[in-house]
Amino acid sequence: MSEPRPVAVIVLAAGEGTRMKSRIPKVLHTLCGRSMLGHALAAAGGLEPQRLVVVAGHSREEVSAEAARHAAGVCLVVQERLGGTGHAVRMVTEALGDLPGVVVVTYGDMPLLRAQTLAALVREHQAAGNAVTVLTARVPDPSGYGRIIRDDGGSLAEIVEDADATAAQRAIDEINSGCYAFDGTLLADAVKRVATGNAQGQEYLTDVVAILRGDGHPVGAVLAADPGEIQGVNDRVQLAQARRAYNDRLLEQWMRAGVTIVDPASTWVDVDVTIGQDTEIGPGTQLQGHTAIGAGARIGPGCQLTDTTVADDAAVSHAVCVQAEIGPGATVGPYAYLRPGTRIGPGAHIGCHVELKNAAVGAGAKVPHLTYVGDADIGERANVGAGTIFANYDGAAKHHTTVGAHAFIGSDTVLVAPVSVGDGAYTAAGSAITEDVPPGAIGIARGRQHNSAGWVERRRPGSRAAEAARAREAEEAEAARAGAAGARAAEDEEAQPR
Ligand code: UD1
Ligand code: CA
Repeated sequence: MSEPRPVAVIVLAAGEGTRMKSRIPKVLHTLCGRSMLGHALAAAGGLEPQRLVVVAGHSREEVSAEAARHAAGVCLVVQERLGGTGHAVRMVTEALGDLPGVVVVTYGDMPLLRAQTLAALVREHQAAGNAVTVLTARVPDPSGYGRIIRDDGGSLAEIVEDADATAAQRAIDEINSGCYAFDGTLLADAVKRVATGNAQGQEYLTDVVAILRGDGHPVGAVLAADPGEIQGVNDRVQLAQARRAYNDRLLEQWMRAGVTIVDPASTWVDVDVTIGQDTEIGPGTQLQGHTAIGAGARIGPGCQLTDTTVADDAAVSHAVCVQAEIGPGATVGPYAYLRPGTRIGPGAHIGCHVELKNAAVGAGAKVPHLTYVGDADIGERANVGAGTIFANYDGAAKHHTTVGAHAFIGSDTVLVAPVSVGDGAYTAAGSAITEDVPPGAIGIARGRQHNSAGWVERRRPGSRAAEAARAREAEEAEAARAGAAGARAAEDEEAQPR
């Protein structure tokens, strides 16, 4: 069945969101990696309307920019004065002229709404031939929402806002979701007749229902199949609830697709993340932005991956990775920090307390312990010893370091860039390498060791160290005497004729 295309979907996003107590306009607050406005536009766009309209008012530049980012051809209507949801829609009908056909209105603060729910609303609306069809829901706690008032026959009569409701009306648990399908022509006429004699002194879009019914037009209500979808977000408590609900929805989708989520309660996934089959996500893990995980990988516990690609069968634990690429079968962590431009080759290993930035690590190479790698290429199967520092910054500019294939960087080497260590070359532990090391050579750049015998006895006489040294010397001297005596005895024995 081909879906009926609405002539317009209008997303209301002009409100300030006072209850958020924020400098950021409400609809730009995010959940699961997308603003509330972005979520609303994704659902609205799913209907493929002829026009996708956003009403912006408060912080309109930011709201408009965000709208354009999510929907290229979006049509922006400015609401100069926040006169209410009815006023907002009137601004649209006055700006766009006649909209013959189905017009859908949704609010920018209901991020859980699905496109298919809107589509079902439109189908029902058209099948019933209504002037307006309201999406409603039955909820355990209806406070704050507009209540659905039905007549004695059970038909939709009107919507009463929480602030204007009587005690008896407040007890009604069927609420207005804030999504409607309208006959566009009738809507344009009705919004001109919405009064402001209510608790908030505003033009309520919800009043259009009683107006159209009073005109003798059929009006209807459709109960949402999943009441969780219509949750509006007015404050940060509701934002957290919506985020949790959205996250649960995403995790369920991934689990049903063959991903193991060990602890859904502590796992957070953004809407644009992808995860392959048989991958296991450990507790305390956050996958953000456009992170893409392959199949058979193990991520976590304790990972935060942002815009990072992890190939099949890789394992990452206790790591923070931003714009990094991790190759197939590679292992990262625990306690690694992969910054933008890090590329870890197939089967390579990045170990504990290692930080990388703008660095490529070749296939099978190892950077196992306590190392900083910045602006570098490390060849395949190279080994970077514990405590190595790639000194890429001279205080003015960043420079590049190359470590060749099968090279061996001794522990506590400082590679002062720009510098290169050739294929199969070594550096001696503790070296500060400032000149290139040719292939197959060892670079030794450290002071030679000199032992000053008896220094402790001379400079720290009577100390524990001096005592320990003396005791050890005495033991060794005794052992040497005993050894010499034993050797003589053996010689004598051997000299005896049998
Ligand atoms: C609204 C409904 C209520 C419904 C609830 C569902 C009205 C009068 N009330 O109440 O029946 O149960 O949503 O969540 O419609 N906006 C504008 N311009 C304005 C005022 C609001 O664009 O002048 C936008 C806001 O940015 C927001 C949306 O409209 O995205 C809803 O406004 P809000 O103030 O949150 O309405 P509620 O009090 O939640
Ligand atoms: Ca709201």
